[in-house]
Amino acid sequence: MACTCSEAYNFAAGPAMLPAEVRRQLAEQLGHAAAGGVPLLEQPFTGAGFRGLMEETEALLRNLLGIPDDYAVLFMQGGASAQFALLPLNLLAAGQGAAYVETGHWARKAFVEACRHAPVRCAASGAATGYTSVPAPADWQVPADAGYCHLTSNETGNGLQMQDFPQLPVPLVADMTSDLLTRPLAVERFGAIYASTQKNLGVAGLCLVIIRRELLRPPRPGLPSAFSYAVLAEQNSRFNTPPTLALYCANRMLRWVAERGGVTAMAALCRQRSRLLYDCIDASALYRCAVRPDQRSAVNVCFELRDRPLSAVFFGQAEAHGLHHLQGHSALGGVRASLYNAMPLEGVERLVDFMREFESRHG
Ligand SMILES: Cc1ncc(COP(=O)(O)O)c(C=O)c1O
Repeated sequence: MACTCSEAYNFAAGPAMLPAEVRRQLAEQLGHAAAGGVPLLEQPFTGAGFRGLMEETEALLRNLLGIPDDYAVLFMQGGASAQFALLPLNLLAAGQGAAYVETGHWARKAFVEACRHAPVRCAASGAATGYTSVPAPADWQVPADAGYCHLTSNETGNGLQMQDFPQLPVPLVADMTSDLLTRPLAVERFGAIYASTQKNLGVAGLCLVIIRRELLRPPRPGLPSAFSYAVLAEQNSRFNTPPTLALYCANRMLRWVAERGGVTAMAALCRQRSRLLYDCIDASALYRCAVRPDQRSAVNVCFELRDRPLSAVFFGQAEAHGLHHLQGHSALGGVRASLYNAMPLEGVERLVDFMREFESRHG
């Protein structure tokens, strides 16, 4: 049955949908000269105009997350995947190790990459449960001399989200690529937090790093200056040309979040959206979510059809209803609905209506 509604919804895990207002601002910025003559995106990154944008972006982020003054905010390139290597290279002394908590696909990638650069160890793994729950912090084996303990706050591909974070004797370092700005956060509990921007902060090309200044150390031999946290902190992320378009988008996304009540308001919406979808899944005989209920992600809802061969029909009909990119992670399969801050409640309501109707015809 074809859809008669005009609005289409993008459930992609990233790059993800932008709010209509931010999309409009971006189009205006690209299409028109600013009042002063030269659009912001064509101005030198060292000039007052673009510097002002970077300073405002940092101030918005600091306000929204309550980032303490003794933390630096860095704007980097290379995505979160580059950080998988840059963390050990920047944070560890030669020969020093770190501990990694393996909660799913992305935590594993971070761990495997770090192994190439330092003697890191797996502190705990959820592999035995198929990554359907987070290993209990009491069981994490974190050596006292580890430089840090790494975790992934939200497993984008597995649909698993950490609900709280333990106090450890070593700094916590967190990949928050998929849930930064979706809930309040006690930044002071972490040594460093990083997040690519293409989910909740605009388009791809930028990675935020929030780091306690006392962890900054001079670049070790072999580490390119452009990827040294200390160099970037010293030079306000203008060591070389920053990704101007991605920074512009992040700025407008942060304004958009601030105007809508900040992260507390985002968290309330997040809960509302995901509850609607999980309730639909749990009440169904066709859909199934294997993740432990109290650790299910509020941003990436991952589930499957009990009748797996029906999945292709499901995706095809969803597309015809304007419900796009519901396929699970390419390495994991299943269905995934990514509900980042820009997803309106109506998008999830439409998805739930479609799923119920699909089940009534195929269940
Ligand atoms: C939790 C998490 N970490 C890291 C990444 C990798 O980010 P990037 O592609 O920007 O390197 C992703 C991408 O989806 C992710 O979801």
